[in-house]
Parts: sequence; C-alpha cells; structure tokens
Amino acid sequence: MKSIILNTPSCDSTIYCGEGAFKERTQYLKDKKLFVITDSNVHKIYAPLIKEAFGENYVFVMPAGEGSKNHTQLFKILSAMLENGVTRSSVVVALGGGVVGDVAGLAASLYMRGVKLVQIPTTLLSQVDSSVGGKTAVDFKGVKNVVGTFYQPGEVIVDPMFLNTLPKREIRCGLGEIIKYGALDKGIYKSLIKNRAHLKGIKFLEDITFDCIAHKAEVVRADERDVGGRRKTLNLGHTTGHAFELYYRRKSHGEFVLIGMYYELFIARRMGICGGRYADNLEKLIKKVIGKIPAYEDAERAAIFAKYDKKNTATTQVSVIVPKCEGESEEIKLQLEEYAGFIAQCRDSLLEG
Ligand code: NAD
Ligand code: GLY
Repeated sequence: MKSIILNTPSCDSTIYCGEGAFKERTQYLKDKKLFVITDSNVHKIYAPLIKEAFGENYVFVMPAGEGSKNHTQLFKILSAMLENGVTRSSVVVALGGGVVGDVAGLAASLYMRGVKLVQIPTTLLSQVDSSVGGKTAVDFKGVKNVVGTFYQPGEVIVDPMFLNTLPKREIRCGLGEIIKYGALDKGIYKSLIKNRAHLKGIKFLEDITFDCIAHKAEVVRADERDVGGRRKTLNLGHTTGHAFELYYRRKSHGEFVLIGMYYELFIARRMGICGGRYADNLEKLIKKVIGKIPAYEDAERAAIFAKYDKKNTATTQVSVIVPKCEGESEEIKLQLEEYAGFIAQCRDSLLEG
C-alpha cells in the first residue's frame, strides 16, 4: 500500500492506495461512530463486506446513478444523520462512485458545519479523480455541480479490489479521466502510450491511478479552491463534456469527458494550439477507449449549455482548457457563438468521416 499526503490550508488528508487498503484502513474506523453512505448497486454487491467492516453502524443506501445527485437526496441523508444521532465526533464514510462521493461529501460538510469524512471510491473514475481534492456538489435546476462546497476528506482509501466488479462501461468512464491526466502530465501521457495495448489491465490501472492521484494532489496543494488557475486545468474536456451531459443525459460523466476532449482537441487543432503527432496520439487514445465519436445533430444547441461552466467569468464567453503539447494545456476564452461554431465544425467533420 502506498500513500500520498495532501496538506492544504483547510485540512491534512492522506490518500492510501493499493491492494488491501480497504481492509487495513477500515480497522482504524472500528471504534468510531460511523455514518456510511453508499448506493444501491454497491450495497447489493458488497453487503457482506460492508457488514464486516462497519458492523452495526447505520448504512444509508441511495439509488444508484447521477439522478440521485440532487438536493432531495442530500436532505434525506441529512435527516437520517440527525435521526441517527450523528455528532461532530462521528465519521461519514462515502463508499461508492463519484455520485456517492459528491453527495456524501456535501452532506458531511453541511451537517453541524462539518463532520469528518472518509472517501472510499469504488469506481475507477472516483479513484483517479473525484474522491481526491474535496470538491462536493449536487446538480440543481438541471445545472451540473452548481451547489457544492470545498470539503477535504481526512482520508481517502483507494483499493483496486473494487474494480473487479465494475462493468466495462465504468472502466471506460474512468479511462476518460485518466486520458485527461495524460493530456496534463508528461509521465502519464508516456505511460498511456507505452501501455496502449492493455489500458484496461488491473495492474496498469492500479499504477496509473496512483500517478493520476499524485498529479491531482500536487494541483490541489497549489490551488485548493480553484482560484489560482492551476486547478482549472483539471477541467480539460469538461466544458464541452458537461454541456453535452446537460443536454443529452444519455451517457455517463466519464463518456462525456472523452467526447468533450475530442471536440476540444478539434478546437485546439483549428486554432493552431495543438497538432502533429501529439494531437494524433491523443485522438487515438480517446477513440481507443470510447470508439466512435458521436456527431451530434444539434451540437450547437448543446454547446450553449457551456454558458453555465464555473470557469466562465462572463455569461457570453466560454472558457475551455485545451491540450497544447506534452504535459501542457492552455486556457482559451471564446465568445459563446464562436465556441458553438467550432463544435458544429467538429460535428460536420465527423459526419464527413
Ligand atoms: P457513479 O457514482 O454513478 O458510479 C457509476 C456506476 O457504477 C453506478 O451505477 C454505481 O452504482 C456503480 N458502481 C460503483 N462502484 C461499483 C463497483 N465497485 N462495482 C460495480 N458497480 C459499481 O459514477 P462515477 O463515474 O463514479 O462518478 C461520476 C460523478 O462524479 C459525476 O456526478 C461527476 O460529476 C462526479 N465527479 C466529481 C469530481 C469531483 O472532483 N468531485 C470529479 C469528477 C467527477
Ligand atoms: N475534477 C476537477 C477538480 O477536482 O478540480
């Protein structure tokens, strides 16, 4: 088991990674009053493990899926915390994917103005990204992650054992965020290129997960509250990914990140920011994981949803983080119409084949 210390102005957090991390670290929680939050799929698969690790502690099971990431579910959790005598010395355990982690993190940050939080991510996406760094949120009025807080978990327990039960589609979603890290970090990019024939191998995923977390920890240390510009880079692929996610809803977050990265790479190429073999390699990686990129008929309309992006400083301008060269990205600001125009051009190029 390896660990990464993530000290920020608000909290000292330790991220434990590796086979056996769950068993080893949960034994330190045994003498605490816990409030465990999970989802229906994870509960169904891991009920015996949950019982063994958390005993008689209360387990709140929310319906699986992005549809649970809302204020109704949040207030159900807060009610159950109150009814079950959760106090400031209790520990909230978020056991699940990014949806559980985001909602449970928000509940932990709000209840009594903050209860200790342990994140135990069970999807690849939540292991490489969402469980680390303290962003919590629910979706509200159709806008993604618009109500939330920064609230660091005291501990994150990343155990690859959970990946064994993960559907292939969810591995693909996690690879979406991993490729994003590849566009930000030279070492991760090289590792992806070197291992491109077996990106889904558990050993490769375990190693690359650690590298992605290390990259994210460095960024969060430098810019915890996403104000210095550094943390914005983690949003590569997300301006378009989130806009499409809001408009189309049919796919998962990680799949939209992959599609978003493809469309944004197109913009970077058109603007002469990224090109050559590096751009070709990124494109190949994206396509290898997601397959065919959708040529959305009403892509321009979907693109308008980018106006809600939290990186924007004006409602008429869209901020996009685009890949530049190995290990480097760049923020570009486009007028909404100009951005939608690029998105339409990308769609047209996909239609032309
Ligand atoms: P998810 O939480 O919906 O999990 C995906 C599916 O996998 C669900 O059906 C879940 O029940 C199932 N599942 C979870 N663990 C499993 C396991 N071990 N075996 C079998 N099935 C399992 O989705 P996700 O992709 O993990 O997370 C997406 C969410 O994360 C989005 O809401 C996104 O906005 C958020 N996110 C947050 C941050 C952040 O920094 N806070 C970063 C990236 C993404
Ligand atoms: N996933 C983006 C961030 O944590 O900032």
